[in-house]
Amino acid sequence: MNNSYGKLASHVYNLDKYIGKSFGDVEYYLERLNECSGPILEPAVGNGRALIPLLEAGLDVRGFDASPEMLGYCRAHCKERSLTPALSQQTFEAFAHEERFEAIVIPAGSLQLIADHATAIATVKRFLDHLRPGGRLIFDLYPHDLFADTQPSIRNWQTEAGDLLTLTSQRVKADLIAQTTVSHLRYELWCEGKLASSELEFLTMRWWGVEEMALTLRAAGFVDLVVSGNYDFGSAPKHGDEVVTFECRRPR
Ligand SMILES: C[S@@+](CC[C@H](N)C(=O)[O-])C[C@H]1O[C@@H](n2cnc3c(N)ncnc32)[C@H](O)[C@@H]1O
Repeated sequence: MNNSYGKLASHVYNLDKYIGKSFGDVEYYLERLNECSGPILEPAVGNGRALIPLLEAGLDVRGFDASPEMLGYCRAHCKERSLTPALSQQTFEAFAHEERFEAIVIPAGSLQLIADHATAIATVKRFLDHLRPGGRLIFDLYPHDLFADTQPSIRNWQTEAGDLLTLTSQRVKADLIAQTTVSHLRYELWCEGKLASSELEFLTMRWWGVEEMALTLRAAGFVDLVVSGNYDFGSAPKHGDEVVTFECRRPR
């Protein structure tokens, strides 16, 4: 299954992108949400890496994620800190909340996990429908990795129990028309030198053009779009920037 973040994938995510880890995004989202007093939604909330600092800053955030394992980590981290956000297992493709939000935030390029263009457009429209008038959608995209090196990479982590988790990634397909790539992610858990379990995930990502996304947001009905490079609000993204952030509003 694609982008499923199963047991070992979630374990690796939680070891590698632990609570407290920021790519500059946590500080940026905190700053952008500074004056937000209403409810906030974080789709694809994962293990809570971004959610928890937002909650600890006093923001009223809730989240959903497709992966029960990721939600398991998120719930455990919240419980340890006596935080009680509403968390649910839902997908970009079908999520529904009765509440209307003051902001919807999607850090870490998670929107790129929607590989199909029509589905992504429907999801953007669903974000608009879930915002209050004047509410903001803020999300990151990573630019133009479509042509990146296709050499396999191997990384490893020590688990809490002292075992070894390895991840071998290999890009196996780049579709220049669909603007998607597929990578094989092979996760392996080694206990006392023996392979205890393994998991193969297909990571499919869509690589958006900046103008393409701007057109998509405007066509969906968003206004007041600001596109920023490298978490410098209002600074137009330029070649070499690692991340592009979009912020726009539902009309009042
Ligand atoms: C890169 S992680 C981001 C986690 C967290 N937001 C953060 O900033 O660290 C991507 C998350 O997207 C979730 N995901 C993947 N496909 C999804 C889908 N179709 N609907 C909802 N969540 C999905 C994964 O389970 C994973 O937790």
